[in-house]
Amino acid sequence: MSDNKVQIFDTTLRDGEQVPGCKLNTKQKLVIAERLDLLGVDIIEAGFPVSSPGDFTSVNEIAKIVKNATVCGLTRAVENDIKVAAEALKYAKRPRIHTGIGTSESHIKYKFNSTQEKVIERGVAAVKYAKSFVEDVEFYAEDAGRTDNEFLARVCEEMIKAGATVLNIPDTTGYCLPEEYGAKIKYLKENVKGIDKVTISCHCHNDLGLATANSIAGAINGARQIECTINGIGERAGNTALEEVVMIMKQHPYLHLNTDINSKLLYDTSLMVSESMGMMVQPNKAIVGANAFAHSSGIHQDGVIKNRETYEIIDPAEVGVTESAIVLTARSGRAALAYRAKKIGYELTKLQLDEVYKEFLNYADRKKEVVNEDIHEIMKTVSVAAAVA
Ligand code: KIV
Ligand code: ZN
Repeated sequence: MSDNKVQIFDTTLRDGEQVPGCKLNTKQKLVIAERLDLLGVDIIEAGFPVSSPGDFTSVNEIAKIVKNATVCGLTRAVENDIKVAAEALKYAKRPRIHTGIGTSESHIKYKFNSTQEKVIERGVAAVKYAKSFVEDVEFYAEDAGRTDNEFLARVCEEMIKAGATVLNIPDTTGYCLPEEYGAKIKYLKENVKGIDKVTISCHCHNDLGLATANSIAGAINGARQIECTINGIGERAGNTALEEVVMIMKQHPYLHLNTDINSKLLYDTSLMVSESMGMMVQPNKAIVGANAFAHSSGIHQDGVIKNRETYEIIDPAEVGVTESAIVLTARSGRAALAYRAKKIGYELTKLQLDEVYKEFLNYADRKKEVVNEDIHEIMKTVSVAAAVA
């Protein structure tokens, strides 16, 4: 694997599916898992097998059908969780157990009523036990975002000694700033013995809208796995959006970070997940929102019609969107109207366009958007335009 490759760990079916109202049945999960494999994700976190018989079955069935990706199951640092996850993953070509424990002061004190030493002991025991079933064991230091860096470095070092192959540094509460999260990863790279033998993973939540920025900051500072979900769905404000981190790395080649994702499948995959979870994508969502490649103001439309690159940094075809949309509203100018009229069969002279545009504005003031049928109607009412139809 190249030093610059960032592995994409998709947790749509685990952290994403935890969202209220997003529950999927096994059949739906299998369809999504197959699509994620086709999309080129490196790891699919298929579920939390001990959490319910349904989740166990889903992980078990997904493990059977996934051809390329590693299939991963989540556990707490609890023997029975790990045993059940190993059983669920037994048919996977590449199984991974993802185990861990909270490491922040608040988790140690309020969740476990424990001490730092005992938390390390539990983590080490969990990693060692998971290793007795599978070679690939990922350890998560829950709430690492709010964990003191020195203690976190000790935790990481002990988990490497116990056999962890991947160290997940979650910003569980979405608290960190990008600089702070990047510095945390850098600190671990520089202060943990054996760190170069393992992969550091970013797992960021979006409580302050910084999940994507934090994950990229992590990768810039040496992390080589990003945990994310399609459409950024996940607990509370969600997880890092897969489509965003992938396109950031693609659009900024000087970062020298790349993935194996087939970006042309991003839009379709987003639709598939949104429809099966019944979770609408906000129209202004980066990369996959309905308005991500739609232009409605006259100034922008004029620019895009002359050359798409004036207002678009991504070719929509790169993410599987057929073309940029020119939306006709009261803010549109003559260029946009002429462009759309031509597309539906009306070649207008300057004089004709002036007359049609006046009537168009009357329509546009009454409606949110002027559609093709409206333009046909406008052509009927305008004397010069009728002649060109
Ligand atoms: O956000 C988090 O800390 C998690 C862990 C369980 C990996 O989802
Ligand atoms: Zn999470």
